[in-house]
Amino acid sequence: MVSPKLPLLLVLLHAVFGSAYRWYNWQFEVTCQSDAYIVPEDEAATAKFLKEQYPRGSHIKVVGNGHGFGNLTTCVDNSLTEKPTYIVSLDNLKHLSINKEDMTVTFGAGWDVYDLIKELKANGLSFDHLGVERVQNFVGASTTGTHGSGSSTGNMASQIVGLRVLDSQGNLRVLDEKHNGEELKAFRISLGALGLITEMTIRVQPTLHMKKTTKVLNATSDYSKMYQELAQLYREHDRMTVWGPHFDWDADTQSWALEPTYFLSWWEPTDYTDVQNCTLNYCANGCGDCKKEYICYDEVTDAISCPPQGVCTREFYAEIEHFFPIEYYAEAAANYTIFQQSQTPRMDAPYNHQMVIQHRSLKGDDTYLSPVNTYNLSPELSGVFGVIEIDWIQEYNNFTTLWQNQELAMEFLPHFGEIYNVRPHWNKMSPPNPTYTLEKFPKLPEFLAIQERQDPKCQFVNDFLVRQLGITRCQDFLSS
Ligand SMILES: Cc1cc2nc3c(=O)[nH]c(=O)nc-3n(C[C@H](O)[C@H](O)[C@H](O)COP(=O)(O)OP(=O)(O)OC[C@H]3O[C@@H](n4cnc5c(N)ncnc54)[C@H](O)[C@@H]3O)c2cc1C
Ligand SMILES: *[C@@H]1O[C@H](CO)[C@@H](O)[C@H](O)[C@H]1NC(C)=O
Ligand SMILES: *[C@@H]1O[C@H](CO)[C@@H](O)[C@H](O)[C@H]1NC(C)=O
Ligand SMILES: *[C@@H]1O[C@H](CO)[C@@H](O)[C@H](O)[C@H]1NC(C)=O
Ligand SMILES: *[C@@H]1O[C@H](CO)[C@@H](O)[C@H](O)[C@H]1NC(C)=O
Ligand SMILES: *[C@@H]1O[C@H](CO)[C@@H](O)[C@H](O)[C@H]1NC(C)=O
Repeated sequence: MVSPKLPLLLVLLHAVFGSAYRWYNWQFEVTCQSDAYIVPEDEAATAKFLKEQYPRGSHIKVVGNGHGFGNLTTCVDNSLTEKPTYIVSLDNLKHLSINKEDMTVTFGAGWDVYDLIKELKANGLSFDHLGVERVQNFVGASTTGTHGSGSSTGNMASQIVGLRVLDSQGNLRVLDEKHNGEELKAFRISLGALGLITEMTIRVQPTLHMKKTTKVLNATSDYSKMYQELAQLYREHDRMTVWGPHFDWDADTQSWALEPTYFLSWWEPTDYTDVQNCTLNYCANGCGDCKKEYICYDEVTDAISCPPQGVCTREFYAEIEHFFPIEYYAEAAANYTIFQQSQTPRMDAPYNHQMVIQHRSLKGDDTYLSPVNTYNLSPELSGVFGVIEIDWIQEYNNFTTLWQNQELAMEFLPHFGEIYNVRPHWNKMSPPNPTYTLEKFPKLPEFLAIQERQDPKCQFVNDFLVRQLGITRCQDFLSS
C-alpha cells in the first residue's frame, strides 16, 4: 500500500523542480511523458503560466481525472518534440458559490463530480444529469458529453449556463448564456481544444427524489424480438437503463454464452421522501445484487448513479458507446449484437470474461460538438437519441487482450455510422475520420474557427484531436 501522502509529495516536487512526469489514464494504457505536471494555485497563476509558455509554443494538455478510453488526454510525448510539453491540472481551483435565486452553482475547475454532488446535496440542491459513476472531474466529464439516461434529460454539458476560459496567451474569456449564448454552444463540449476552463456555472434544482424500479427479464437469442420489446419499453418509460444482455466467455467453445436473464431500471420523480434506500444496492457497476426485482427511493443522484464505494471491480475493459436517433434503436441494437458475434472468432487473446451490452436514451441538443447534436436530423425524427454501449470486461489485466478488443471495437463505426447516423462518445474508442466527423457535426467549421482564435500556435492539440477533428492547420504541430 502506497501512503496516500506520497503522490501529493511527488506532485509538489514536480511542481517545484519541473521534473519529468508520466501521465496515465485510469487503466494505464493511455500514457505519455511530459516535462512536468503543473498544478497552478488559482486562475491568475494559470494565466501567468500560459502567458509565459506562449512565446515558446509549449505543448499544454489540461486533464481531469483520466477516466477515458481513448487518447484524448494524451500529452505530446517529450521524445517527439523540441518544445516543452506539460500536463496541467486545475485541481486547486476549488471555490464555489450557490445562487438560489437563479438556481445556479458556480465553481472552480478543481471540483470532482463526487464532491460537487455532495456539496449540492448538503445545500438542498440536486443535479439531475449524471453518468453511472461520479469519479470524473466535473469539467473533464461535461466537456466530453458525459450523460446518463432519459429521453427528456440532456447530458451534463446541457446544464452549463456560463464559464470562464483562458486561451493559449493567458487571456480570459467570460461566456454566459445571456451575453454570448451562441459562442457558449462551442464551449460546452470543447475537449480541451478551446483552452483551459477555470470555472463553470451550471443549472441545478431543489432536491429531487426518484423512485427506481428494477426488473429482471429473460434474454433470448432472437435479438430482433428482444430489442423490439425494449424499444417499446423506451416508449413507456422516459428514463430507463437496460443492463444486458450479458454474455460470459466460454473457454471451451471460445465464444460468448448468453446469460439467461438481464435487468433494467427505470426512474420516475416521486414526492415520497420517507425512505432513501437506493444505495442499499449499488449495482450500477454490475456489482451487488443486480438481477433482482426491487424498488427503491432516493435523492436523484443516489438513485441514478454510483459513488466510488459501489464500484467493486476495476479490471481492464474495452468499450464503445454510440448515439443515434432513437427511431433506429431496435434494428440497430440487433445488428450491433449480430456484428459483435461475427467478430468473436477473432477474439483469440486470453482473459476475456464478460460482455455487457447497455442501453440508454438521451435528449438531443444544439451544442456544436455534442454527440447528440440535432443539426443534421431530418424533420420526422424526434430529436431523442438511443445509446448503445458494449463493454468487454477482462478477468485479468492483460494488455494483449485489451488491445485486441479495442481494435475490434473500432470496427463498429465504419460499419454502422452512415446507416444509423451514429456519433461515438468522444472519450470511448472513436476512430479518427474527419470527413465523417464533419458530416455528423455540421458546426465543426465554426468550432475550428474558435479553436484557431483560442490556440493560434496549436499548443492545446494532440495527435488525437488533430486527426479526429481534421485540424489541418495544426498538422505539423510537432515540428512547427
Ligand atoms: C468506468 C467508467 C465509467 C464511465 N461512465 C460513463 C457514463 O455513464 N456516461 C458517459 O457519458 N461517460 C462515462 N464515462 C466516460 C467519462 O465520463 C468521460 O471519459 C469523461 O470525459 C472523463 O472525465 P475525466 O475528468 O476523467 O476527464 P479526462 O479524461 O481527464 O479529460 C477529458 C477531457 O476534458 C478536458 N479537460 C479536463 N479539464 C479541463 C479544463 N479545466 N478545461 C478544459 N478542458 C478540460 C481534457 O483536456 C480532455 O479533453 C465513463 C468512464 C469510465 C472509465
Ligand atoms: C493511443 O495512441 C497510441 C500511440 O499512437 C496508440 O498505439 C494506441 O493504440 C492509441 N490508443 C487508443 C485507445 O486509441
Ligand atoms: C422468464 O422465464 C421464466 C421461466 O423460464 C418465467 O417463469 C418468467 O415469468 C419469465 N419472465 C418474464 C419477465 O417473462
Ligand atoms: C425501499 O423502501 C421501500 C419503502 O419502504 C420498500 O418498499 C422497498 O422494498 C425498499 N427497497 C429496498 C431495496 O430495500
Ligand atoms: C440490419 O438489419 C436489417 C433488418 O434485419 C437488415 O436488413 C440489414 O441488412 C442490417 N444491416 C446491417 C448493416 O447489418
Ligand atoms: C498477455 O497475453 C499474451 C497473449 O497470450 C501473452 O503473450 C502475455 O504474456 C500475457 N501477459 C501477461 C502479463 O500475462
